[in-house]
Amino acid sequence: MASLLLSLLLAGSSAEAASYNGLAITPQMGWDNWNAFACDVDAELLASSARSIVDLGLRDLGYEYVILDDCWSIGRNTSGNGSIIADLTKFPNGMAAVSEDVHSLGLKFGMYSDAGQYTCGQYEGSLGHEEVDAQTFANWGVDYLKYDNCYNNGNAGTQYLSRNRYNTMSQALNATGRPVLYSLCNWGEDYPWNWGTTIANSWRISGDVYDSFDRPDPRCPCDGPDAWDCGLPGFHCSTLNIINKAAFIPSKAQSGGWNDLDMLTVGLGGQTDAEYVTLFSMWCAVKSPLIMGNDFSKISNSTLSILTNAAAIAVNQDPLYSSAARRWYYDTSDVDAYGRGSIQMWSGALNSTTDTEWDDMVVVLINGNNSPSTLNATLADIFVDYGTGGTAAEIGISWEVRDLWAYRLTDEESQALIDAANATTASGSGASVEAWSNNSTMALYNATATSYADGLEAKDELLLGKVVSTVAPSGTLTASIDTHGAAMFRLRAVPTTTPAARKRTDL
Ligand code: GAL
Repeated sequence: MASLLLSLLLAGSSAEAASYNGLAITPQMGWDNWNAFACDVDAELLASSARSIVDLGLRDLGYEYVILDDCWSIGRNTSGNGSIIADLTKFPNGMAAVSEDVHSLGLKFGMYSDAGQYTCGQYEGSLGHEEVDAQTFANWGVDYLKYDNCYNNGNAGTQYLSRNRYNTMSQALNATGRPVLYSLCNWGEDYPWNWGTTIANSWRISGDVYDSFDRPDPRCPCDGPDAWDCGLPGFHCSTLNIINKAAFIPSKAQSGGWNDLDMLTVGLGGQTDAEYVTLFSMWCAVKSPLIMGNDFSKISNSTLSILTNAAAIAVNQDPLYSSAARRWYYDTSDVDAYGRGSIQMWSGALNSTTDTEWDDMVVVLINGNNSPSTLNATLADIFVDYGTGGTAAEIGISWEVRDLWAYRLTDEESQALIDAANATTASGSGASVEAWSNNSTMALYNATATSYADGLEAKDELLLGKVVSTVAPSGTLTASIDTHGAAMFRLRAVPTTTPAARKRTDL
C-alpha cells in the first residue's frame, strides 16, 4: 500500500497548509462583477449581489469575497501623496462605505487594480504607485486584490521582470499589516506558477475565459491538447482550451498558491447545462479559485444548483490540497460543429478519514464527443501515481464509487430557494435559506457552521456524494455521460475485513 508520503511525492502534492501570507489555505471562493457586467458597476450592484450571495445560501457554502473589477476610479490626486480617487457617481458614499456594507453581511471585499500605467479598461493603474495604493486599499477595508497586467510598459517578457513587478505590490500589501488575498491576473504570461507561490495566493493561467465549451478563436491561440507554452495568452479562451492548459501544471497548485482557471462562466448562457457541469467539476478538481461571474437578478435554477453542489466544492476545498492530474486524453472522430471531439480522464488524491490508511480519489471523465457516450477508466490508470504498470496496491482492493452530482438540487428545489431569496429581499427579513430549508426535502451544506474538512471527517453524505456502484480489484469504472458533459466521482476504499479464522470442523 502506498504510504501517504509516497503518494504525495508521486502526485506532486503538498500535505501542509502553507501560505506566504496565511491566506487561501484552500482556494478562494467568491463573486466578481466582470463576466456579467464589465464596466457597468456601481455601489448598488455590489450591495444587491452581496445580498443575493447571502440569501441564496452561497456565503455559507464558502463564497465569501465580493470583488469589484475594473472601471471604478477617476484618476489620482495631483497634490499630497497622489492617492487614487474612487468614482463618486458610481460609489456615492465612497469605497469604505461599500466595504462596510459587504462586511456587514459577513462577507469580504475585493478590489481590482493593474501592475501597469493603466488598467485594461484604461483607468488609473498602480505601477509606480504601489505603496500609496496598497495603503488606500487597506484604509478602505479591502480584503482581496485582483492585480491585472495591461499597459505594463514592457516590464514583462521574462519571469524575473514580471515577478519583480508583481512583487512590488505584494510587499506593499504586506507592509500595510492588513491581510489582503493577492490574486495575480497576468494571464499565464511569464509562467507565474513558477514564481507566484512566494508572493501571491493565485495566478491566472490563461487569457480571459469565454462562454463557449470548445469554440476555437484566433484571439486565444495555443488551442489544443499540447498547447502549454503560450507566448500570447490572448482572450476568448474556451472551457476546453483552459482545461487543456491546466493539464500541464497540476503540481504547481498548492495550499496558499493556486492555479486560477479564471472566473466561472456558469450562468452566462453560452453553454449547455452539461457543459457548465464539466466546467464546475474541473475547476473544483484542479483547485482553481471558484469566483462566480453571473448576474444574480437573473439566476436560473440550473445555475444555482451547479454553484451549490457541495460535494464538488468539498473536492475543491479538500484538506489534502492536491490538484487532480490528467491521466489520458484522446481525440475522437465524433466531432461537433467546430471539428472537435475528445475524451479525457483526470484523477487525484483526496483526504480520507482518519480511520483508514487509503486516500480517497476524485475521478473526472469528460465526454467531449458530439453525442452521449459511455466512458471507462481502469483502476490502473486512476491510481497510476501510486505505482505504474499495475503495481499500485490500490488496484488490489474494491472501491466504493460515489457520484458527486447525485445530490444536486432538483430544478424545483433550486427554484424554491430562488423564490425564498426574492421574498426575503422584498421583506428584508434575512432568513431565506432557513425558510426554504423548513419546507424542503433537500439540504444545503453550511460550511460556515461546519468546515468542509470537519464535514468530510464526519462523513457527511452531502459532501461524500451518493454510492452508485463498486469497482472490484483490477476493475473498471464506467459512466454514461451527456454530450460535452462530465462524470465526477469520489472513490473510497471499501473497508477490508480480515476473514475470521476457520473452525477445524470447516476444514
Ligand atoms: C482583463 C482580465 C479580466 C478583467 C478585465 C478588466 O485583463 O483578465 O478578468 O479583469 O481585464 O478590464
